[in-house]
Amino acid sequence: MQTARELEVLRNEVKALRQGGRTIALVPTMGALHDGHLTLVRRAREAADHVVASIFVNPRQFGAGEDLDAYPRQLARDSELLEAEGVVLLWAPVPEAMYPAGYATNISVAGVSEGLCGGNRPGHFDGVATVVCKLFNQVMPDVAFFGEKDWQQLAVIRRMARDLDLTLPHVDNIRGVPIVREADGLAMSSRNAYLSAEQRSQAAAIPQAMREAIAAVVSGQAVENELVALSAKLLEAGFDSIDYAEVRDADSLVLLDADNGNARLFVAARIGGTRLIDNMAVA
Ligand code: PAJ
Repeated sequence: MQTARELEVLRNEVKALRQGGRTIALVPTMGALHDGHLTLVRRAREAADHVVASIFVNPRQFGAGEDLDAYPRQLARDSELLEAEGVVLLWAPVPEAMYPAGYATNISVAGVSEGLCGGNRPGHFDGVATVVCKLFNQVMPDVAFFGEKDWQQLAVIRRMARDLDLTLPHVDNIRGVPIVREADGLAMSSRNAYLSAEQRSQAAAIPQAMREAIAAVVSGQAVENELVALSAKLLEAGFDSIDYAEVRDADSLVLLDADNGNARLFVAARIGGTRLIDNMAVA
């Protein structure tokens, strides 16, 4: 596996990989890799001749007071994991390669970026859209893989690709991969590493309470009541606060007060300073 840390090196490597019409799948990450990330790599391998992964802890998607400095960085370990999965090229830019002096451009996607994490983390999705657009232009992948763990992020990226007429990749080739979970149901996340042993076991209340709420809604209970009950269960389990517990249309992300046949439950909650998110189909 080659590692590129400067744009010129990356471009030369990408050019070589594309020779003979060979295709590239991109898996963008911020590192601290777990089986969720590696599942994206496995899906990517099935979809293209070569897999390129990126690791960049993108400062523009972290707000003031968020965990940019604390975010786990473990490039050597991550490189070994990616190589073992058959990744041929790792793009791990130094921050100045991504945002050189004088950098002044921002991509802001309205609509789907509002509410949910966009409501709690102002500017977060501008940072995501901007860096992902840059990653697409840098790597020029035929197809790119993102996790449904960050459902809203996937919606924002698809909207951007559609609106800006991106071709590498085309919006149809932006693929979502179902959430990979721990044995107790907790969605895998690099941020789970922040949890103490006690918080880690309490955190399993998220998927558990979500499943209970979904079962109740599917059996005809009112959405509003079940969301209140869900939040109460999380607070009882040891969570400090609930950022949101909402049911929205899975595609438009419009708020729903009843199942419309395409509904999804979204939750974000904080435990001991760590913010955890999850989402599930209401079905
Ligand atoms: P990061 O949090 O490192 O996640 C990288 C990719 O892995 C994202 O597409 C995310 O949705 C996916 N992922 C994380 N946990 C997952 C899980 N448990 N199951 C399935 N997929 C999972 O998301 C980002 O980085 C950044 O915002 C990025 C897109 C790289 C832009 O900076």
